[in-house]
Amino acid sequence: MADKKATLTVDGKNYEFDIVKGSLGYESIDIHGLSQNKLFMYDPGLVSTAVCESAITYVDGDEGMLLYRGYPIDQLASNADYLEVSYLLLFGERPTKQQYQDFSKLVKRHTLVHEQLTKFFQGFRRDSHPMAVMCGVSGALAAFYHDSIDVKKEEHRELTAIRLLAKIPTLAAMCYKYSIGQPFMFPQNNLSYAGNFLYMMFATPCEPYVVNPVLERALDKIFILHADHEQNASTSTVRIAASSGANPFACIAAGIASLWGPSHGGANEACINMLEEIGTVDRIPEFIARAKDKNDPFRLMGFGHRVYKNYDPRAKVMRETCHEVLKELNIKNPLFDVASELERIALSDPYFIDHKLYPNVDFYSGIVLKAIGIPTSMFTVMFALARTVGWIAHWKEMYKQGNFKIARPRQIYTGYTERDFPAIDKD
Ligand code: SDX
Repeated sequence: MADKKATLTVDGKNYEFDIVKGSLGYESIDIHGLSQNKLFMYDPGLVSTAVCESAITYVDGDEGMLLYRGYPIDQLASNADYLEVSYLLLFGERPTKQQYQDFSKLVKRHTLVHEQLTKFFQGFRRDSHPMAVMCGVSGALAAFYHDSIDVKKEEHRELTAIRLLAKIPTLAAMCYKYSIGQPFMFPQNNLSYAGNFLYMMFATPCEPYVVNPVLERALDKIFILHADHEQNASTSTVRIAASSGANPFACIAAGIASLWGPSHGGANEACINMLEEIGTVDRIPEFIARAKDKNDPFRLMGFGHRVYKNYDPRAKVMRETCHEVLKELNIKNPLFDVASELERIALSDPYFIDHKLYPNVDFYSGIVLKAIGIPTSMFTVMFALARTVGWIAHWKEMYKQGNFKIARPRQIYTGYTERDFPAIDKD
Protein backbone atom coordinates (compact mmCIF):
# COMPACT_ATOMS: atom_id res chain seq x y z
CA MET A 1 0.00 0.00 0.00
CA ALA A 2 1.59 3.30 -1.09
CA ASP A 3 1.97 5.71 1.81
CA LYS A 4 1.87 8.80 -0.45
CA LYS A 5 -1.03 9.86 -2.65
CA ALA A 6 -1.52 12.36 -5.47
CA THR A 7 -4.86 14.03 -6.08
CA LEU A 8 -5.99 15.22 -9.49
CA THR A 9 -8.95 17.59 -9.59
CA VAL A 10 -10.97 17.82 -12.83
CA ASP A 11 -14.24 19.79 -13.01
CA GLY A 12 -14.34 19.87 -9.25
CA LYS A 13 -14.02 16.08 -8.96
CA ASN A 14 -11.00 14.65 -7.11
CA TYR A 15 -9.15 11.58 -8.36
CA GLU A 16 -6.60 10.01 -6.01
CA PHE A 17 -3.58 8.02 -7.15
CA ASP A 18 -0.74 6.19 -5.43
CA ILE A 19 2.72 7.74 -5.58
CA VAL A 20 5.24 4.96 -6.23
CA LYS A 21 9.04 5.01 -5.99
CA GLY A 22 11.76 2.60 -7.05
CA SER A 23 15.09 1.99 -5.31
CA LEU A 24 16.51 5.11 -7.04
CA GLY A 25 15.09 7.99 -9.08
CA TYR A 26 12.06 10.24 -9.16
CA GLU A 27 8.71 9.37 -7.57
CA SER A 28 5.97 8.44 -10.06
CA ILE A 29 2.23 8.92 -9.94
CA ASP A 30 0.57 5.58 -10.73
CA ILE A 31 -2.24 6.63 -13.06
CA HIS A 32 -2.91 3.27 -14.66
CA GLY A 33 -6.63 3.32 -13.72
CA LEU A 34 -7.19 6.89 -14.99
CA SER A 35 -8.90 5.90 -18.28
CA GLN A 36 -11.80 4.36 -16.30
CA ASN A 37 -12.70 7.97 -15.55
CA LYS A 38 -12.72 8.76 -19.26
CA LEU A 39 -9.50 10.73 -18.86
CA PHE A 40 -6.07 10.25 -20.51
CA MET A 41 -2.68 11.77 -19.67
CA TYR A 42 -1.08 13.58 -22.64
CA ASP A 43 2.75 13.29 -22.78
CA PRO A 44 4.22 13.48 -26.32
CA GLY A 45 7.63 11.81 -26.50
CA LEU A 46 6.92 10.23 -23.09
CA VAL A 47 9.17 12.90 -21.55
CA SER A 48 7.47 12.59 -18.14
CA THR A 49 6.20 9.02 -18.29
CA ALA A 50 7.58 5.85 -16.72
CA VAL A 51 6.30 2.96 -18.86
CA CYS A 52 7.61 0.00 -16.86
CA GLU A 53 9.53 -1.17 -13.83
CA SER A 54 13.09 -2.33 -14.55
CA ALA A 55 16.09 -3.41 -12.48
CA ILE A 56 18.66 -3.43 -15.27
CA THR A 57 20.03 0.11 -15.73
CA TYR A 58 19.66 3.38 -13.87
CA VAL A 59 20.49 6.80 -15.31
CA ASP A 60 20.64 9.88 -13.08
CA GLY A 61 20.54 12.69 -15.63
CA ASP A 62 21.06 15.42 -13.03
CA GLU A 63 24.15 13.77 -11.55
CA GLY A 64 25.47 12.32 -14.82
CA MET A 65 25.41 8.82 -13.35
CA LEU A 66 24.90 5.49 -15.19
CA LEU A 67 24.61 2.16 -13.35
CA TYR A 68 24.32 -1.31 -14.91
CA ARG A 69 22.76 -3.50 -12.20
CA GLY A 70 24.08 -0.98 -9.64
CA TYR A 71 27.67 -0.86 -10.92
CA PRO A 72 28.96 2.56 -12.19
CA ILE A 73 29.78 2.62 -15.89
CA ASP A 74 33.32 3.94 -15.40
CA GLN A 75 34.21 1.01 -13.11
CA LEU A 76 32.73 -1.48 -15.59
CA ALA A 77 34.71 0.12 -18.44
CA SER A 78 37.92 -0.17 -16.38
CA ASN A 79 37.46 -3.52 -14.67
CA ALA A 80 35.32 -5.71 -16.93
CA ASP A 81 35.05 -6.82 -20.53
CA TYR A 82 31.96 -6.75 -22.69
CA LEU A 83 31.03 -10.41 -22.23
CA GLU A 84 31.29 -10.03 -18.44
CA VAL A 85 29.04 -6.94 -18.64
CA SER A 86 26.67 -8.87 -20.92
CA TYR A 87 26.40 -11.63 -18.31
CA LEU A 88 25.72 -8.96 -15.64
CA LEU A 89 22.99 -7.31 -17.72
CA LEU A 90 21.35 -10.62 -18.66
CA PHE A 91 21.50 -12.38 -15.27
CA GLY A 92 21.69 -9.49 -12.78
CA GLU A 93 24.92 -10.42 -11.00
CA ARG A 94 28.64 -10.49 -11.84
CA PRO A 95 29.69 -13.94 -13.10
CA THR A 96 32.12 -16.09 -11.12
CA LYS A 97 35.26 -17.03 -13.06
CA GLN A 98 33.66 -20.38 -13.91
CA GLN A 99 30.36 -18.82 -14.96
CA TYR A 100 32.27 -16.33 -17.13
CA GLN A 101 34.23 -19.12 -18.83
CA ASP A 102 31.12 -21.23 -19.41
CA PHE A 103 29.19 -18.21 -20.75
CA SER A 104 32.04 -17.21 -23.10
CA LYS A 105 32.32 -20.77 -24.40
CA LEU A 106 28.55 -20.94 -24.98
CA VAL A 107 28.49 -17.61 -26.85
CA LYS A 108 31.45 -18.72 -28.98
CA ARG A 109 29.56 -21.87 -29.99
CA HIS A 110 26.89 -19.76 -31.64
CA THR A 111 28.96 -17.20 -33.59
CA LEU A 112 28.31 -18.81 -37.00
CA VAL A 113 25.19 -17.86 -38.97
CA HIS A 114 23.29 -20.35 -41.16
CA GLU A 115 24.98 -20.53 -44.57
CA GLN A 116 21.60 -19.80 -46.21
CA LEU A 117 21.65 -16.42 -44.47
CA THR A 118 24.62 -15.35 -46.58
CA LYS A 119 22.29 -15.44 -49.60
CA PHE A 120 20.17 -12.64 -48.11
CA PHE A 121 23.06 -10.26 -48.70
CA GLN A 122 23.05 -10.93 -52.45
CA GLY A 123 19.76 -9.07 -52.78
CA PHE A 124 21.22 -5.79 -51.50
CA ARG A 125 23.14 -3.27 -53.58
CA ARG A 126 26.78 -3.18 -52.48
CA ASP A 127 26.36 0.51 -51.64
CA SER A 128 23.32 -0.05 -49.40
CA HIS A 129 23.57 1.68 -46.03
CA PRO A 130 24.81 -1.03 -43.63
CA MET A 131 21.94 -0.23 -41.22
CA ALA A 132 19.45 -1.03 -43.99
CA VAL A 133 21.18 -4.38 -44.44
CA MET A 134 21.31 -4.97 -40.67
CA CYS A 135 17.56 -4.34 -40.39
CA GLY A 136 17.02 -6.98 -43.06
CA VAL A 137 19.41 -9.71 -42.02
CA SER A 138 18.73 -9.41 -38.26
CA GLY A 139 15.02 -9.83 -38.89
CA ALA A 140 15.80 -12.72 -41.26
CA LEU A 141 17.25 -14.66 -38.29
CA ALA A 142 13.60 -15.21 -37.32
CA ALA A 143 13.30 -17.53 -40.33
CA PHE A 144 16.00 -19.88 -39.10
CA TYR A 145 15.27 -20.79 -35.51
CA HIS A 146 12.03 -22.73 -35.21
CA ASP A 147 13.60 -24.83 -32.43
CA SER A 148 13.37 -21.92 -29.96
CA ILE A 149 10.21 -20.20 -31.06
CA ASP A 150 8.11 -20.58 -27.91
CA VAL A 151 8.97 -17.37 -26.04
CA LYS A 152 6.97 -18.63 -23.05
CA LYS A 153 9.65 -21.30 -22.48
CA GLU A 154 12.63 -20.00 -20.48
CA GLU A 155 15.07 -22.38 -22.19
CA HIS A 156 13.97 -21.01 -25.58
CA ARG A 157 14.53 -17.45 -24.35
CA GLU A 158 17.98 -18.29 -22.97
CA LEU A 159 19.02 -19.95 -26.25
CA THR A 160 17.69 -17.00 -28.27
CA ALA A 161 19.61 -14.55 -26.06
CA ILE A 162 22.87 -16.45 -26.64
CA ARG A 163 22.23 -16.72 -30.40
CA LEU A 164 21.61 -12.97 -30.73
CA LEU A 165 24.61 -11.97 -28.60
CA ALA A 166 26.82 -14.34 -30.60
CA LYS A 167 25.54 -13.66 -34.11
CA ILE A 168 25.08 -9.91 -34.22
CA PRO A 169 28.86 -9.24 -34.53
CA THR A 170 29.05 -11.82 -37.33
CA LEU A 171 26.17 -10.14 -39.19
CA ALA A 172 27.65 -6.68 -38.58
CA ALA A 173 31.03 -7.68 -40.01
CA MET A 174 29.26 -9.35 -42.96
CA CYS A 175 27.50 -6.03 -43.70
CA TYR A 176 30.91 -4.35 -43.95
CA LYS A 177 32.57 -7.10 -45.99
CA TYR A 178 29.63 -7.15 -48.40
CA SER A 179 29.86 -3.36 -48.87
CA ILE A 180 33.53 -3.55 -49.90
CA GLY A 181 33.20 -6.69 -52.01
CA GLN A 182 35.45 -8.80 -49.80
CA PRO A 183 34.63 -12.39 -48.75
CA PHE A 184 32.90 -12.95 -45.42
CA MET A 185 35.36 -14.09 -42.74
CA PHE A 186 34.31 -16.92 -40.44
CA PRO A 187 34.34 -16.16 -36.68
CA GLN A 188 37.47 -17.23 -34.81
CA ASN A 189 36.39 -18.73 -31.51
CA ASN A 190 39.89 -18.53 -30.06
CA LEU A 191 39.65 -14.71 -30.07
CA SER A 192 37.90 -12.39 -27.60
CA TYR A 193 34.47 -10.96 -28.49
CA ALA A 194 36.00 -7.66 -29.67
CA GLY A 195 39.06 -9.36 -31.16
CA ASN A 196 36.87 -11.72 -33.18
CA PHE A 197 34.87 -8.76 -34.49
CA LEU A 198 38.05 -6.95 -35.58
CA TYR A 199 39.16 -10.18 -37.29
CA MET A 200 35.85 -10.63 -39.14
CA MET A 201 35.98 -6.97 -40.19
CA PHE A 202 39.59 -6.56 -41.30
CA ALA A 203 41.11 -9.99 -41.95
CA THR A 204 41.19 -11.48 -45.46
CA PRO A 205 41.78 -15.09 -46.55
CA CYS A 206 45.03 -13.98 -48.18
CA GLU A 207 47.19 -13.28 -45.13
CA PRO A 208 47.38 -13.69 -41.36
CA TYR A 209 45.67 -10.99 -39.30
CA VAL A 210 46.95 -10.02 -35.84
CA VAL A 211 44.54 -8.23 -33.50
CA ASN A 212 45.97 -4.99 -32.07
CA PRO A 213 45.38 -5.31 -28.30
CA VAL A 214 44.93 -1.55 -27.82
CA LEU A 215 42.23 -1.42 -30.51
CA GLU A 216 40.69 -4.62 -29.14
CA ARG A 217 40.43 -3.08 -25.65
CA ALA A 218 39.16 0.25 -27.01
CA LEU A 219 36.46 -1.51 -29.02
CA ASP A 220 35.49 -3.66 -26.04
CA LYS A 221 35.07 -0.47 -23.96
CA ILE A 222 32.92 1.08 -26.69
CA PHE A 223 30.70 -2.01 -26.59
CA ILE A 224 30.42 -1.74 -22.78
CA LEU A 225 29.53 1.99 -22.91
CA HIS A 226 26.77 1.36 -25.46
CA ALA A 227 25.37 -1.86 -23.94
CA ASP A 228 22.26 -0.46 -22.28
CA HIS A 229 20.59 2.80 -21.29
CA GLU A 230 17.14 2.36 -19.67
CA GLN A 231 14.06 3.03 -21.81
CA ASN A 232 15.66 4.89 -24.73
CA ALA A 233 13.81 4.97 -28.04
CA SER A 234 15.21 1.71 -29.43
CA THR A 235 14.84 -0.23 -26.18
CA SER A 236 11.28 1.03 -25.85
CA THR A 237 10.70 -0.12 -29.45
CA VAL A 238 11.93 -3.61 -28.59
CA ARG A 239 9.71 -3.68 -25.51
CA ILE A 240 6.64 -2.54 -27.46
CA ALA A 241 7.27 -5.11 -30.19
CA ALA A 242 7.82 -7.82 -27.54
CA SER A 243 4.60 -6.83 -25.72
CA SER A 244 2.59 -8.45 -28.53
CA GLY A 245 4.57 -11.67 -28.09
CA ALA A 246 6.41 -11.10 -31.39
CA ASN A 247 9.37 -13.21 -32.50
CA PRO A 248 12.45 -12.01 -30.54
CA PHE A 249 14.64 -11.69 -33.64
CA ALA A 250 11.94 -9.48 -35.19
CA CYS A 251 11.87 -7.41 -31.98
CA ILE A 252 15.63 -6.84 -32.22
CA ALA A 253 15.25 -5.86 -35.88
CA ALA A 254 12.67 -3.28 -34.75
CA GLY A 255 15.17 -1.96 -32.21
CA ILE A 256 17.84 -1.66 -34.92
CA ALA A 257 15.41 0.29 -37.10
CA SER A 258 14.62 2.72 -34.28
CA LEU A 259 18.29 3.16 -33.34
CA TRP A 260 19.12 4.24 -36.91
CA GLY A 261 17.65 7.72 -36.50
CA PRO A 262 20.13 10.65 -36.27
CA SER A 263 18.53 11.79 -33.00
CA HIS A 264 19.42 8.42 -31.47
CA GLY A 265 22.04 5.89 -32.51
CA GLY A 266 22.59 7.58 -35.86
CA ALA A 267 24.12 10.55 -34.01
CA ASN A 268 27.62 9.04 -33.99
CA GLU A 269 27.67 8.96 -37.80
CA ALA A 270 26.03 12.42 -37.94
CA CYS A 271 28.56 13.74 -35.40
CA ILE A 272 31.65 12.71 -37.36
CA ASN A 273 30.06 14.10 -40.54
CA MET A 274 29.48 17.36 -38.65
CA LEU A 275 33.08 17.49 -37.38
CA GLU A 276 34.31 16.88 -40.94
CA GLU A 277 31.99 19.63 -42.23
CA ILE A 278 33.35 22.05 -39.59
CA GLY A 279 36.83 20.93 -40.66
CA THR A 280 38.91 23.46 -38.74
CA VAL A 281 38.76 25.12 -35.33
CA ASP A 282 38.23 28.60 -36.81
CA ARG A 283 34.87 27.53 -38.30
CA ILE A 284 33.42 26.42 -34.94
CA PRO A 285 31.73 29.78 -34.06
CA GLU A 286 29.73 29.62 -37.32
CA PHE A 287 28.29 26.21 -36.35
CA ILE A 288 27.67 27.21 -32.73
CA ALA A 289 25.63 30.15 -34.03
CA ARG A 290 23.63 27.86 -36.31
CA ALA A 291 22.94 25.44 -33.44
CA LYS A 292 21.51 28.35 -31.41
CA ASP A 293 19.44 29.76 -34.29
CA LYS A 294 15.81 28.72 -33.79
CA ASN A 295 15.20 29.12 -37.53
CA ASP A 296 18.05 26.77 -38.42
CA PRO A 297 17.25 23.04 -38.01
CA PHE A 298 20.98 22.38 -37.48
CA ARG A 299 21.84 20.87 -34.12
CA LEU A 300 25.24 20.03 -32.68
CA MET A 301 25.35 16.27 -33.13
CA GLY A 302 26.76 14.51 -30.09
CA PHE A 303 25.38 17.20 -27.79
CA GLY A 304 22.28 17.11 -25.65
CA HIS A 305 20.29 14.29 -24.18
CA ARG A 306 16.72 13.66 -23.10
CA VAL A 307 17.87 12.51 -19.66
CA TYR A 308 21.43 13.74 -19.06
CA LYS A 309 21.35 17.38 -17.99
CA ASN A 310 24.98 16.92 -16.97
CA TYR A 311 28.02 15.42 -18.67
CA ASP A 312 27.19 11.94 -20.07
CA PRO A 313 29.51 9.68 -18.01
CA ARG A 314 30.07 7.58 -21.11
CA ALA A 315 31.45 10.61 -22.96
CA LYS A 316 34.10 11.01 -20.25
CA VAL A 317 35.29 7.41 -20.72
CA MET A 318 35.06 7.77 -24.49
CA ARG A 319 37.24 10.91 -24.38
CA GLU A 320 39.96 9.07 -22.43
CA THR A 321 39.73 6.10 -24.81
CA CYS A 322 40.03 8.50 -27.72
CA HIS A 323 43.28 9.90 -26.29
CA GLU A 324 44.66 6.37 -25.71
CA VAL A 325 43.88 5.13 -29.23
CA LEU A 326 45.18 8.24 -31.03
CA LYS A 327 48.38 8.08 -28.93
CA GLU A 328 48.84 4.35 -29.52
CA LEU A 329 48.35 4.74 -33.25
CA ASN A 330 50.35 7.97 -33.25
CA ILE A 331 47.49 9.60 -35.16
CA LYS A 332 47.26 13.38 -35.21
CA ASN A 333 43.56 13.50 -36.04
CA PRO A 334 42.50 17.12 -36.61
CA LEU A 335 38.92 16.04 -35.89
CA PHE A 336 39.91 15.39 -32.29
CA ASP A 337 41.27 18.95 -32.04
CA VAL A 338 38.03 20.28 -33.55
CA ALA A 339 35.98 18.12 -31.14
CA SER A 340 37.96 19.23 -28.08
CA GLU A 341 37.72 22.91 -29.03
CA LEU A 342 34.02 22.57 -29.90
CA GLU A 343 33.41 20.98 -26.49
CA ARG A 344 35.36 23.74 -24.74
CA ILE A 345 33.50 26.53 -26.51
CA ALA A 346 30.05 24.92 -26.19
CA LEU A 347 30.48 24.24 -22.48
CA SER A 348 31.23 27.90 -21.84
CA ASP A 349 28.42 29.24 -24.06
CA PRO A 350 25.35 30.50 -22.12
CA TYR A 351 22.94 28.83 -24.60
CA PHE A 352 24.41 25.37 -23.96
CA ILE A 353 24.73 26.02 -20.24
CA ASP A 354 21.10 27.24 -19.97
CA HIS A 355 19.82 24.30 -22.05
CA LYS A 356 22.04 21.87 -20.09
CA LEU A 357 23.54 20.60 -23.34
CA TYR A 358 26.63 18.47 -22.71
CA PRO A 359 28.54 16.06 -24.94
CA ASN A 360 26.86 12.65 -25.04
CA VAL A 361 28.17 9.16 -25.77
CA ASP A 362 28.20 9.86 -29.49
CA PHE A 363 30.48 12.88 -29.33
CA TYR A 364 33.84 11.12 -29.20
CA SER A 365 32.88 7.60 -30.25
CA GLY A 366 33.08 8.42 -33.96
CA ILE A 367 36.69 9.60 -33.68
CA VAL A 368 37.69 6.37 -31.91
CA LEU A 369 35.83 4.20 -34.42
CA LYS A 370 37.44 6.08 -37.31
CA ALA A 371 40.91 5.61 -35.75
CA ILE A 372 40.21 1.87 -35.42
CA GLY A 373 39.45 1.82 -39.15
CA ILE A 374 35.66 1.48 -38.99
CA PRO A 375 34.02 3.44 -41.84
CA THR A 376 31.53 6.16 -40.85
CA SER A 377 28.64 4.29 -42.47
CA MET A 378 29.24 1.43 -40.00
CA PHE A 379 29.15 3.57 -36.84
CA THR A 380 25.48 3.00 -36.04
CA VAL A 381 25.88 -0.70 -36.78
CA MET A 382 28.52 -0.70 -34.01
CA PHE A 383 26.01 0.92 -31.69
CA ALA A 384 23.39 -1.70 -32.63
CA LEU A 385 25.91 -4.50 -32.07
CA ALA A 386 26.70 -3.25 -28.57
CA ARG A 387 23.10 -2.41 -27.63
CA THR A 388 21.72 -5.82 -28.62
CA VAL A 389 22.57 -7.28 -25.19
CA GLY A 390 20.64 -4.43 -23.54
CA TRP A 391 17.64 -5.02 -25.76
CA ILE A 392 17.75 -8.76 -24.96
CA ALA A 393 18.07 -8.05 -21.22
CA HIS A 394 14.92 -5.91 -21.31
CA TRP A 395 13.11 -8.51 -23.44
CA LYS A 396 14.04 -11.24 -20.90
CA GLU A 397 13.02 -8.99 -17.99
CA MET A 398 9.54 -8.51 -19.48
CA TYR A 399 8.96 -12.27 -19.50
CA LYS A 400 10.53 -12.71 -16.05
CA GLN A 401 8.17 -10.06 -14.62
CA GLY A 402 5.35 -11.86 -16.43
CA ASN A 403 1.72 -10.74 -17.05
CA PHE A 404 2.83 -7.78 -19.18
CA LYS A 405 0.10 -6.15 -21.21
CA ILE A 406 0.35 -5.33 -24.88
CA ALA A 407 1.50 -1.71 -25.22
CA ARG A 408 -1.41 0.29 -26.60
CA PRO A 409 -1.07 4.07 -26.05
CA ARG A 410 -4.09 6.31 -26.71
CA GLN A 411 -4.28 9.68 -28.50
CA ILE A 412 -5.91 13.07 -28.67
CA TYR A 413 -8.03 12.79 -31.83
CA THR A 414 -8.03 15.97 -33.91
CA GLY A 415 -9.69 14.67 -37.07
CA TYR A 416 -13.24 15.05 -38.49
CA THR A 417 -16.26 14.17 -36.38
CA GLU A 418 -18.53 11.52 -37.99
CA ARG A 419 -19.79 12.36 -41.50
CA ASP A 420 -21.56 10.38 -44.31
CA PHE A 421 -19.67 8.97 -47.27
CA PRO A 422 -21.77 9.20 -50.50
CA ALA A 423 -21.13 6.69 -53.35
CA ILE A 424 -18.98 8.37 -55.99
CA ASP A 425 -21.68 8.13 -58.73
CA LYS A 426 -24.01 10.20 -56.53
CA ASP A 427 -21.62 13.21 -56.93
C1 SDX B 1 21.57 8.71 -27.83
O1 SDX B 1 17.73 8.07 -24.79
C2 SDX B 1 18.92 7.62 -24.70
O2 SDX B 1 19.34 7.13 -23.66
C3 SDX B 1 19.72 7.69 -25.97
C4 SDX B 1 21.18 7.22 -25.86
C5 SDX B 1 21.25 5.75 -25.56
O3 SDX B 1 22.29 5.32 -25.03
O4 SDX B 1 20.32 5.00 -25.96
O5 SDX B 1 21.85 7.94 -24.85
C6 SDX B 1 21.93 7.42 -27.16
O6 SDX B 1 20.67 8.71 -28.62
C7 SDX B 1 22.29 9.98 -27.41
C8 SDX B 1 21.72 11.24 -28.12
C9 SDX B 1 22.33 11.30 -29.53
N1 SDX B 1 21.67 12.37 -30.32
C10 SDX B 1 22.35 13.48 -30.69
O7 SDX B 1 23.49 13.77 -30.30
C11 SDX B 1 21.56 14.37 -31.64
C12 SDX B 1 21.66 15.83 -31.16
N2 SDX B 1 20.88 15.94 -29.91
C13 SDX B 1 19.51 16.40 -30.02
O8 SDX B 1 18.83 15.98 -31.17
C14 SDX B 1 18.75 16.27 -28.71
O9 SDX B 1 19.55 16.75 -27.72
C15 SDX B 1 18.19 14.94 -28.28
C16 SDX B 1 17.31 14.35 -29.32
C17 SDX B 1 19.29 14.00 -27.95
C18 SDX B 1 17.35 15.17 -27.02
O10 SDX B 1 16.33 16.01 -27.40
P1 SDX B 1 15.12 16.35 -26.38
O11 SDX B 1 15.32 15.77 -25.05
O12 SDX B 1 13.84 16.03 -27.08
O13 SDX B 1 15.30 17.86 -26.16
P2 SDX B 1 14.80 18.93 -27.15
O14 SDX B 1 15.03 18.47 -28.56
O15 SDX B 1 13.43 19.33 -26.75
O16 SDX B 1 15.84 20.10 -26.87
C19 SDX B 1 15.66 20.92 -25.73
C20 SDX B 1 16.23 22.25 -26.16
C21 SDX B 1 15.65 22.77 -27.48
O17 SDX B 1 15.73 24.18 -27.45
P3 SDX B 1 14.37 25.01 -27.07
O18 SDX B 1 13.37 24.69 -28.18
O19 SDX B 1 13.89 24.46 -25.74
O20 SDX B 1 14.80 26.42 -27.05
O21 SDX B 1 17.66 22.14 -26.40
C22 SDX B 1 17.94 22.40 -27.77
C23 SDX B 1 16.63 22.30 -28.53
O22 SDX B 1 16.66 23.16 -29.65
N3 SDX B 1 18.88 21.39 -28.19
C24 SDX B 1 19.95 21.59 -28.96
C25 SDX B 1 20.57 20.34 -29.08
N4 SDX B 1 19.87 19.43 -28.40
C26 SDX B 1 18.82 20.07 -27.86
N5 SDX B 1 20.42 22.71 -29.55
C27 SDX B 1 21.56 22.55 -30.27
N6 SDX B 1 22.24 21.40 -30.44
C28 SDX B 1 21.76 20.27 -29.85
N7 SDX B 1 22.41 19.13 -29.98
